[in-house]
Parts: sequence; C-alpha cells; structure tokens
Amino acid sequence: MASLAGRDLISIADLTAAEISEVLDVATALKAGVDPGRPLAGRNLAMIFQRPSNRTRVSFEVAIRHLGGHPIPLFNSEIQIGERESTADISRILDRYVDGIVARLSSHRDLVTLARAARGPVVNAMTDREHPCQVLADCLTIRELLGHLAGARVCYVGDGNNVCTSWIYAATLLGIDLRVVGPAGYEPHPAVLERADSLAGGRSPVRHSHEAAEGLADAEIIYTDVWTSMGQEAEQQQRRDDFAHLQVNESLLRLAPPTARVMHCLPAHRGEEITDAVLDGPQSVVFDQAENRLWAQEALLSLIFDAKASDGRGLERTAAGRSPAGTAPR
Ligand code: CP
Ligand code: NVA
Repeated sequence: MASLAGRDLISIADLTAAEISEVLDVATALKAGVDPGRPLAGRNLAMIFQRPSNRTRVSFEVAIRHLGGHPIPLFNSEIQIGERESTADISRILDRYVDGIVARLSSHRDLVTLARAARGPVVNAMTDREHPCQVLADCLTIRELLGHLAGARVCYVGDGNNVCTSWIYAATLLGIDLRVVGPAGYEPHPAVLERADSLAGGRSPVRHSHEAAEGLADAEIIYTDVWTSMGQEAEQQQRRDDFAHLQVNESLLRLAPPTARVMHCLPAHRGEEITDAVLDGPQSVVFDQAENRLWAQEALLSLIFDAKASDGRGLERTAAGRSPAGTAPR
C-alpha cells in the first residue's frame, strides 16, 4: 500500500480501499484516546474557505491544533480566489509560507489548479464536485454502527451532487451497496457513474432509481443532503418543487426497516429535505456523524504529514526551506 505521506486528497477516488481503511483505523484509534504525537509540530497549514462552513473549518482547525500544527484560516473576503490574483499565484505564494493547504473552493477546477501549483499537500474541504472528507467521516460512522462497510446497504435520497459523487466513488471502492434515489433531472452525472464503473472494472455496485421504495426496502442507512447546495440558491424554488416527494420524513422512513439509521452531512434545511421529527428522532445519528469529521480529518492529516513515512517527498525541511515536494500525479 502506498503511503499517504505528502499526498493530496482532491477526490476520494485518489485513495484505494486499503488507504481509506487505514484512515478509518487511525481515526478509530484517535477517537479511543490514542496519542497522535505531534506530526504537525512546527508546521503551518493554510485553510482557504471560499464558501461558508461550520463543521469542516472548525474540525480541521481543531485537528491541526491537536496534531501540534498552526492553522491559518483565510476567507474569501481577503483572499478572493481568482479575483485579486490568479488561483495558481495564490498557491505559489502560500507554498512559500506554509506546509500544506486545506481548501473549500466553489470550483473543483480551481482546486485542481491550486493543487497543481502547490508543492505541499492540498486537501479538498469541498468543491462543487466532491466532498471527500465528509465521506471519510460518514464511512467511519457506518463502520462504527454496522461493524463493516463492504456490503452495507446505504440509500442516498436526494441530489446527485458533490456529496453524492464522493459517496459513489467511496461505495465503489469499498463494495458498499449504494442506491441513489432522486428525481429525474437530478441524477448523478453520467461521467461520475462511468468513472465509478472504471474504478470497479465495469462492475460498480452503485444503482440509481427514481423510486424511494425500491432503494429503501432493505436499507441499513438512509442518507440525505440539502436539495439546494451552496451556489445554487437561484434554483431553490424549482428544487423544492422537484424534490418535495422525497423529503426524509416519518412516512418515507416507513419504507425502510425500523432499524435503519438516518444520516445527513449537515447543515440541514429543516422542514425541506428532512423533518425535525426525523433529524431529532431515535434513528438519527447526525451528531455522531458530525463529530466524526474531526477524527477522520485528524487521521488523514496525521498520515499525510507522517514524517517517518514521507520517503523524501517534501515533508522534511532542508536548510533552504522545504525540499522540492512532489504531489501525487493528477
Ligand atoms: N458538512 C459540512 O461540510 O458542513 P460545513 O459546510 O458546515 O463545513
Ligand atoms: N451539498 C452541500 C453540502 C454542504 C456540506 C453543498 O454543497 O452546499
């Protein structure tokens, strides 16, 4: 298994199943109280947030501090991605000061540009296309609940969006039985399903349906996300109309076994994609899921910044500063 040291995480599909399992194993150990040491001691990480965040920013910032590092949050009002200067120039400049970048950018393409221009590791804190750190925490939560991931029956009810895309790749890599239920016109992008198939040698376990009953019948996990993602606010009313019949409410829950657990990446639009009764009800695990963002990201960073495993790919400083770092090829 290749080491994660010095690597970027742009897409969850950058990881193998074994690497995801390694992150989850380390996360479980950290959550149980194992001392992570101080792999980030003396290191500074820039945290670019072009979009709002609660969970991602705070959990990354706490994780960086737990690991002995120093987070530098940068909001779009000051850094102004692609407006004040080019994305690549921002990256080249930050690279001279910091040891890595965590970035939530509106455009996945911008994140790829940022990562290509950076010598140090870059971690995707969500783009319009993917949310890999969310799905690492989701997998940790499901493994805690069910004891396994392969064969877990997960029904994602909602938009074929960034969270759904990372879920499709993760399910494909890990052999999770993922059913995506959404209205016509909001299916996962065909290129995502093609990539999933190619990751699985033509046999991705992911299925898509317009029928909630079909996807939910034997689901162990019911997962949903907002109908209107950040940046899609102009489509909100149309989306409310198109998704209304797929609200995760008590009557939709009755289509699934009563033991099914409910997950939501949050923030929730209460009363829209999910009701208060479900979100706050006995089947909901959303707050445990949100907590796991911290453990999964702390594990990820501890592996990326594991100096012992870095084999000279840029994590050790030289007398002149950082050594030339190679990031994973994209
Ligand atoms: N789930 C998630 O990414 O939450 P934030 O937008 O608050 O970071
Ligand atoms: N799909 C949502 C996820 C928020 C964590 C969005 O992109 O806004």
